[in-house]
Amino acid sequence: MKELRINGRRLQERIAALGCIGALAGGGVCRLAFSRADKQARDHVEALMRQLRLEVHIDRIGNIAGVRQGEQAGAVVLAGSHIDTVGSAGMLDGSYGVMAALEAVETLNEACVRTRRPVAVMAFVNEEGARFMPDMMGSLIFRGDLSVEDARSITGIDGTTIGENIDRTGFAGDEPPGALPVHRYVELHIEQGPILEKEGCTIGVVEGVQGILWLAYTLRGATAHAGTTPVELRRDAAYVAGAVVQFVRRLALEIEGQCATVGSITLQPNLVNVVAEEARITVDLRNPDSGRLRMAAERLHAFVLETARAERVEVDRQIRVNVPPVSFDPSVIETVAAAAEGLGFRSRRMISGAGHDAQIMASVCRTGMIFVPSRGGLSHSIREDTAPEDLESGANVLLHTVLSLAQSN
Ligand code: GLV
Ligand code: MN
Ligand code: MN
Repeated sequence: MKELRINGRRLQERIAALGCIGALAGGGVCRLAFSRADKQARDHVEALMRQLRLEVHIDRIGNIAGVRQGEQAGAVVLAGSHIDTVGSAGMLDGSYGVMAALEAVETLNEACVRTRRPVAVMAFVNEEGARFMPDMMGSLIFRGDLSVEDARSITGIDGTTIGENIDRTGFAGDEPPGALPVHRYVELHIEQGPILEKEGCTIGVVEGVQGILWLAYTLRGATAHAGTTPVELRRDAAYVAGAVVQFVRRLALEIEGQCATVGSITLQPNLVNVVAEEARITVDLRNPDSGRLRMAAERLHAFVLETARAERVEVDRQIRVNVPPVSFDPSVIETVAAAAEGLGFRSRRMISGAGHDAQIMASVCRTGMIFVPSRGGLSHSIREDTAPEDLESGANVLLHTVLSLAQSN
């Protein structure tokens, strides 16, 4: 069993085939959650699961699990990730973890390996949250933190609801979410940052994920003529939004471990000669330390209120995502480290900067993650890339992690 290896070429081909679905003309992929392209990709994954003789379960939000029976019935060792993408993605974020898990299963099939516990592959729905917030939605629903009914009524950035999209694309199955009993969860993913590449490591043994807070601010002022209205008479929502962007950068520079990003600003009426009456901005705050993350949010809110008051602009804040920092299970971390060492790969322990379904699954069952390097540290970009040999190495670490989890108690 120690000699077992995945087929690197087949894995590459599978990743490339999935990457053709929702491919962008200038390179990269757009498979926003619950879109037609996302549905097409789900059909593709479901067909692959059936081809590998997995028992397919699709729940009412669209999470797809394919189960390979073990000697014992009961809780599965689950490997997976997501196949939805941001609007300008590469082929690897999420898809790699799902395709590599399928590749690991095919390797077990070919070698006629019977594991003690069942092994399953999962493609969670809407991990990105780029179209419909919150992110990690499929795993949140699987964990029971959000009902399918509440999720269906969520409105996305294009004004449509998840329910409408599910009904139009025929996206979901009829199983209750969370019905599959899970013994362990392991997620293989590209690092999406520069650390492994910089340090010449092939494998990241992930010990946890930093906390994530997504805030949506709506700032309401008043329209006025751009050529005639003196500054002191203005209630300029764009001015407040601009000041917030500057302050968010300061938070990132001043608070230890802090990431802080304004990713979206929309103005109304968004015209060249009209003072903006409304600005909507999103702020993504992340920190491995929950106290510092809270402090960043408090400092930001105090700044927004003060700047808006001076401009006589009204402020509304919605908290869209609030996921605390998560530590993975020591026994799964050690299993991943042992698999990497057994295969002779240079590895390092690390914390994930990006959000993952694994951080939600960590309170369902013992959980861990495996990272491989990202070229130039890039992700959420059409230039996202990982060397083929690193993709193969990561999939072999996943295979041996899953094998040892599925054979042990
Ligand atoms: C998911 O990709 C996130 O970290 O935002
Ligand atoms: Mn991802
Ligand atoms: Mn992502």
